[in-house]
Amino acid sequence: SGSPNLYSFADIDSLATQLRKYVLNNQHAALNKHDIFRVAVSGGSLPNTLAKALLAPGNGSAEDTAQFSKWEIFFADERAVPLDHPDSNYRLIKEELLDKIPAQLGAPKVIPIDEEHVHDGDPTELADLYTEELKRSFAAKDSVRIPIFDLILLGVGPDGHTCSLFPGHPQLREEDAWVVGVSDSPKPPPKRITLTLPVVTHAVNIAFVATGSGKKDILKRIFDTDESHSLPSGLVNVQAGHKVSWFSDNAATEGVAFP
Ligand code: 6PG
Repeated sequence: SGSPNLYSFADIDSLATQLRKYVLNNQHAALNKHDIFRVAVSGGSLPNTLAKALLAPGNGSAEDTAQFSKWEIFFADERAVPLDHPDSNYRLIKEELLDKIPAQLGAPKVIPIDEEHVHDGDPTELADLYTEELKRSFAAKDSVRIPIFDLILLGVGPDGHTCSLFPGHPQLREEDAWVVGVSDSPKPPPKRITLTLPVVTHAVNIAFVATGSGKKDILKRIFDTDESHSLPSGLVNVQAGHKVSWFSDNAATEGVAFP
């Protein structure tokens, strides 16, 4: 399936400019195909960088305009907390991006987790209810084997995790479910839900955003060692190949041999 694309920029501003082009190209392709743009986003630093990219003033052309009213935004992973909690990825994307979208660009449809189940002892029901949300959007015509997101935007942790798929966790080997619960995330908070690897790798395109010197060691492990076949983010590269693009900066890619 080819090699992933690794782009390294001098600074966040130039990264954001290219990320904007990339996201809007994906929007354009999706709207041509089915008049809707279905995106999944993760938490961490991604919402902030994405907001930099999308809230920058465009040149006014159709290709350079985010048509937010045609967007459906899902969560690649989410923490089992109320939507206004400091740990909520929903809250993060709302505060960083949604609340700042100028009214004339329209409002995306955002699909959060079911708040009524965030205090359940076990996140299974929360995951199942989120699966139902995916079915509502993707399987309107029944018999959809797997949801195909137009774009999935991810981060990577220092241990190589992406979404809430952690190294060595059984959730990483899930082959059937679309969304699973995690009860023992090593990154707090412990209870979460996450898209599974098959859903991630079936997306039309997948982008990682990884910046700063704190990502240097993990990028070397992902791109320059055989560990890529066991690390969650490495598995996305291995299984989705050329559909994967990494938006990184020179601080993070220093010493990485480019694919
Ligand atoms: C989460 C995130 C997580 C994140 C990575 C990278 O909810 O914890 O979705 O998967 O993307 O940990 O985080 P940074 O971008 O902050 O390094």
